[in-house]
Amino acid sequence: MKQNPIVGCMRWGIWGENFNTKQYETIIDQCLSIGLDTFDHADIYGHYTTEANFGEALKNNHALRSKIRIITKCGINMLTPNRPTHEIKSYDTSASHIRKSVEESLMNFHTDYIDTLLIHRPDILMNPEEIAFILNNLKKEGKVKTFGVSNFTTSQVNLLTKCIPIEHHQVEISLTNIAAFENGVLDQCYSEKIEAQSWSPLGSGIFTEKTEQNLRILFTAEELSTKYNATVNQILLAFLYLHPAGIIPVIGTTKFERIKEAKEAMDIELNREDFYKLLAASTGHEVA
Ligand SMILES: NC(=O)c1ccc[n+]([C@@H]2O[C@H](COP(=O)([O-])OP(=O)(O)OC[C@H]3O[C@@H](n4cnc5c(N)ncnc54)[C@H](OP(=O)(O)O)[C@@H]3O)[C@@H](O)[C@H]2O)c1
Repeated sequence: MKQNPIVGCMRWGIWGENFNTKQYETIIDQCLSIGLDTFDHADIYGHYTTEANFGEALKNNHALRSKIRIITKCGINMLTPNRPTHEIKSYDTSASHIRKSVEESLMNFHTDYIDTLLIHRPDILMNPEEIAFILNNLKKEGKVKTFGVSNFTTSQVNLLTKCIPIEHHQVEISLTNIAAFENGVLDQCYSEKIEAQSWSPLGSGIFTEKTEQNLRILFTAEELSTKYNATVNQILLAFLYLHPAGIIPVIGTTKFERIKEAKEAMDIELNREDFYKLLAASTGHEVA
């Protein structure tokens, strides 16, 4: 069962278009007008500024909050002048850090709950019982509704699941990164009923770096775009939508037209041969 794409906001702030509050309001409204209501953030986006910039739109227009779902992440300590106490980039999944990060996100978004909190990266020092303790408390307080992880291995998911249910797993999946098809992450999402979200779903660097792999993928996607009367972007997303784990693309564009295209990609049913043509373009060879 295909689900609406999630709208990624990493490039909406100073790491991209640097929208002003009016532009945030406009693009959020546009997304809602086509039924897209889930927005993906992280505490670190825009060197810890994008959540608050997006939040200004929610402050300006109180009716918006109840119409949207907010995903945010914590656990990375980024080296930036905005966090002068950090001496090195590191991970922190201690209870105190998770609590502090969630409280800051709540303030940034001018809200009293986060729909989904993800641990951004697997922290070698993570203690599953400590994470479960703080997440259960945050859930009881109504500050976090659902919980998930990002960029974890299957064994890290298994470890954490011993203490707390994992409801979402956000990983990089695209034609330029097909690891999740083979390393068990998507099998685990399917078998454990964990929602699979793919970041950089079009393929990291696919439009900017002229590698042989990127050129092969774009050439094949271009051919299929004529056959399916679709855009190249839609073919790249239709590839993900075919997987039985129900991959939800987290799209990163700053353009509403491309967001709309991504939603419409759900209507494309690639046939199996075309899926494998794209896969062969990615790997450089047919399957065995
Ligand atoms: N969990 C994690 O560790 C993690 C890591 C990275 C990202 N994320 C999340 O995933 C979201 C998506 O990541 P992403 O931005 O890398 O995904 P993406 O959707 O694969 O890439 C979006 C980028 O591609 C450009 N683009 C799209 N179509 C194009 C075309 N036809 N020609 C040229 N350029 C085109 C966009 O530019 P325009 O803006 O001009 O359309 C934008 O710069 C992020 O916003 C973030 O929420 C999560």
